[in-house]
Amino acid sequence: MKIQPAKSLRGTINLPGDKSISHRAAILSAMAEGDARIENFATGADCASTLDCLQSLGVEIKRENTTIFVRGVGKTGFQKPKTALDCSNSGTTLRLLAGVLAGQNFDSVLTGDRSLQKRPMRRIIEPLTEMGAKIRAENNCAPLAICGKNPLESITYALPVASAQVKSCILLAGLNARNKTEVRSPDSKLKIPNSRNHTELMLQYLGAEIEENFVETENGFAHQVSVTGDSNLTARELQIPSDISSAAFFIVAAACLKNSEIVLQNVGLNPTRVAIIEVLRGFGAEIEVLHRREICNETVGDLLVRRRENFAPKVSSNKIGGEIIANIIDEIPILAIFGSQIENGLEVRGAQELRVKESDRIAAIVENLRRMNADVEAFPDGFLVRKSNLKGATIDSFGDHRIAMAFSIAALFAVGETEIAGADCASVSFPEFFQVLRQITK
Ligand code: S3P
Repeated sequence: MKIQPAKSLRGTINLPGDKSISHRAAILSAMAEGDARIENFATGADCASTLDCLQSLGVEIKRENTTIFVRGVGKTGFQKPKTALDCSNSGTTLRLLAGVLAGQNFDSVLTGDRSLQKRPMRRIIEPLTEMGAKIRAENNCAPLAICGKNPLESITYALPVASAQVKSCILLAGLNARNKTEVRSPDSKLKIPNSRNHTELMLQYLGAEIEENFVETENGFAHQVSVTGDSNLTARELQIPSDISSAAFFIVAAACLKNSEIVLQNVGLNPTRVAIIEVLRGFGAEIEVLHRREICNETVGDLLVRRRENFAPKVSSNKIGGEIIANIIDEIPILAIFGSQIENGLEVRGAQELRVKESDRIAAIVENLRRMNADVEAFPDGFLVRKSNLKGATIDSFGDHRIAMAFSIAALFAVGETEIAGADCASVSFPEFFQVLRQITK
């Protein structure tokens, strides 16, 4: 994919459904009693992997464009799959389905592509084993051979890392456990869950018995969430908001390019996902929320992003770290590009989780920014990028969708043409990305 510099971004766009919420909508509707209609289901390959795996587990699913119909089988109505379940590139598919399969009375295998087979799975193997499932995995990596059990034992589990995938995995297993299963997140100074809470919100929406609270600790608060094993889910119609992590690419582009004005409609604004907006605003980006509303237990709104004058930063530090990292984890690649455009640059620390995403994102960000002539330093847990005049270059996506898309936006700010090698991996989360980009760049 070759990309030319742009002058500005203008237009109104509707982005595909949120990837995280779509995975949960499909899985929880499959575990529910009754038929569900899910609108604006994510169009990317990751969520298609979840649908494929559910079908291999005997769930009837029909798809009409972005509307899907799922016939629920109940919490234990899945069928033993005939072959290994291929989650392809999708960590969310694998980690969430592991929680479901731990509580089924049959054996199954979850696997994925080369990237997914390298990602850490001990974080889900440990709690699921504690609950009574037997899991075999060489070096704690996929493929995972799961010997399920029903009912599982309930546990109280303190998460070593703030991870929504791990939290969700345990809660889904908890639906098939004897009593109440509780997950406690690492301490945080902020009184919002320090990882996305879509699973909790949707479990509640579909009728599960779920409790959430914040416990005061020495270091602030710990978010606790529990689910009761007796809970049954009832299918309901679900509408998926547009994905704020996909929106972030265009927000940064419009915030940086003079005379830009874009409207992003129907974007998910769950409080655990909007930190990216707050961070960008702190550095002077002009982002307004219009028509804020609630849909299916999730907050949604339209975003108006403009760039009229120079940035007027409200924050005094150019350093981001600490608990906010988990709430902006998927937006850090595009934040790095933003950092190369702002006066004091940007330093991100405490983000070592980036090293075990679809690629080593710290290495991918630093390598590609260097190729574009940026002044950048790598740290084990982050990077520092100074304001730089970017030059067109050949970029390596490292097979990682968010790297491919972030550097496509960097290309708009550069002098000369940029080529993104392996750009098609954008389809993992956002197949329409390049088409939308062409539509709104002037
Ligand atoms: C996700 C959680 C995050 C995020 C991923 C999607 C989810 O991962 O990076 O893209 O849908 O639960 P972790 O839970 O591993 O931090």
